[in-house]
Amino acid sequence: MLFSRRPSIRGAFLVIAALCICYGVFFGPALPSTYHKDWSSFEVSWSQSQTASPVQAEDSSHAAPPSSTLSCGNAPGMHDIVLVIKTGATEVEEKLPIHFSTTMDCFPNVLIFSDYGETVDGHVIHDALDNITENIRMTHPDFELWRRLREKGRADLRPEELSEANKIENPSNPTGNSDSIGWRVDRFKNLPMLGKALALKPDAKWFIFADADTYISWSNLLQWVEQLDHTKPIYSGSGAAYTSDDEFQQIFAHGGSGYLVSSAAMKAGADHYAQNQEYLDNAALNHFYGDVVLATMFEHSLDIPLTWAFPMTQGGDPMLMDFAEISYDKKLWCFPAVSYHHLTPTTLKEIWELEQDWVASHTKNHEPLRHSDVFKQWLLPKLKSQDVRTDWDNHADHTENADVHEYEACRQICELNWQCMQYRYSPNSGLCRTFDKVMVGTPDDKGVGVVSGWNLQHIDRFFDGFDSCDGGENEGRWITE
Ligand SMILES: *[C@@H]1O[C@H](CO)[C@@H](O)[C@H](O)[C@H]1NC(C)=O
Repeated sequence: MLFSRRPSIRGAFLVIAALCICYGVFFGPALPSTYHKDWSSFEVSWSQSQTASPVQAEDSSHAAPPSSTLSCGNAPGMHDIVLVIKTGATEVEEKLPIHFSTTMDCFPNVLIFSDYGETVDGHVIHDALDNITENIRMTHPDFELWRRLREKGRADLRPEELSEANKIENPSNPTGNSDSIGWRVDRFKNLPMLGKALALKPDAKWFIFADADTYISWSNLLQWVEQLDHTKPIYSGSGAAYTSDDEFQQIFAHGGSGYLVSSAAMKAGADHYAQNQEYLDNAALNHFYGDVVLATMFEHSLDIPLTWAFPMTQGGDPMLMDFAEISYDKKLWCFPAVSYHHLTPTTLKEIWELEQDWVASHTKNHEPLRHSDVFKQWLLPKLKSQDVRTDWDNHADHTENADVHEYEACRQICELNWQCMQYRYSPNSGLCRTFDKVMVGTPDDKGVGVVSGWNLQHIDRFFDGFDSCDGGENEGRWITE
């Protein structure tokens, strides 16, 4: 999913649109088609295109080895990578703990930055904001949370200020409540995090920045960075366009999808920020998004434009993503899955387990986990085990004109249209909605009996035809330039 952001509508920030941002930075020169590397003494050829296999619900859990055989933290090269998680005190309790037993098993170097320095479950969380230009920090209303936390600590946070409460109030806003106190101070973190992360891990080669609800695949990230040169200034992620009121456009790496920064770019960025701190803190003050300010500094002050990693890095939640998306000519299906965003802790754990099983069962060829594998081994089994769900919203959005007033009629409408992958029936309105995409969806906690169903025959038929990748730059080759 690609984002376009405009500043003027507070509260409706992520205007999701398939805008054509046809920028030259998108594709670099083609990679050599065969890439060899040595990993645990196996020679790997990345050029093998995927063998097209029919879509099957391979329940990976049957073949799952005991987790003790997983060696994610010991994979050579992992020590050169730092995962930098950006979070805030209002969401730490909800979103962070799942990482302690998943992500952090595999990343030997994790730094957590927040608007409040504290220790949670033995994990140190650093205050990203303690050296922001003093008059902003001590007087600006957006720092109210930061000042309160400093003075009175976490106990002073009110229940309604926590991320869980904000989400219930405003479930449609994927970024969390934009009026929340945590969100308002968040944009100041991106720039100082460069120098702070570098000071804590001065010898690392790669820094991957993510949010607390971002999933980063360690095995794919590792394979990706091993094809890149950390001594070159690299800033790579999911491209998004920010358009200001005066139509100035900035291409930036969407923060929640995760962005990769080489040590060379880290040093350049940290130095530049240190030398221009007051100016840049004010730039963040006068902007809505820290990830955009970072991109502006990289591109315009340091000549480090974004390299696009889409569709390897994803701003989408796998529960709501369209795995058949093709954007900028790139077939998402075919690419290694480096990241996902907006994951609930439950989804994060499931994807993490899938990745560990995948790695353990592909030790010989190190074939990366691709989005298609996540679809086949994680998403499809969910649907096959339960193809009708009550009090569930699969986000089917095409309203059928038929006045159905019963679930069974809605199911039949979908069955008669082979493009219909799924349907949703609302007893309250009697409306039937169908959809030509596949999504798992979200619980419908209004308790009015919304029924969501999937037509597994249509899904299998579509993906049987869709499941092929030529391994080229639009169909699965690692994006390295
Ligand atoms: C903190 O900020 C001041 C300027 O406001 C700067 O002179 C100083 O070097 C910074 N300290 C660190 C550790 O970055």
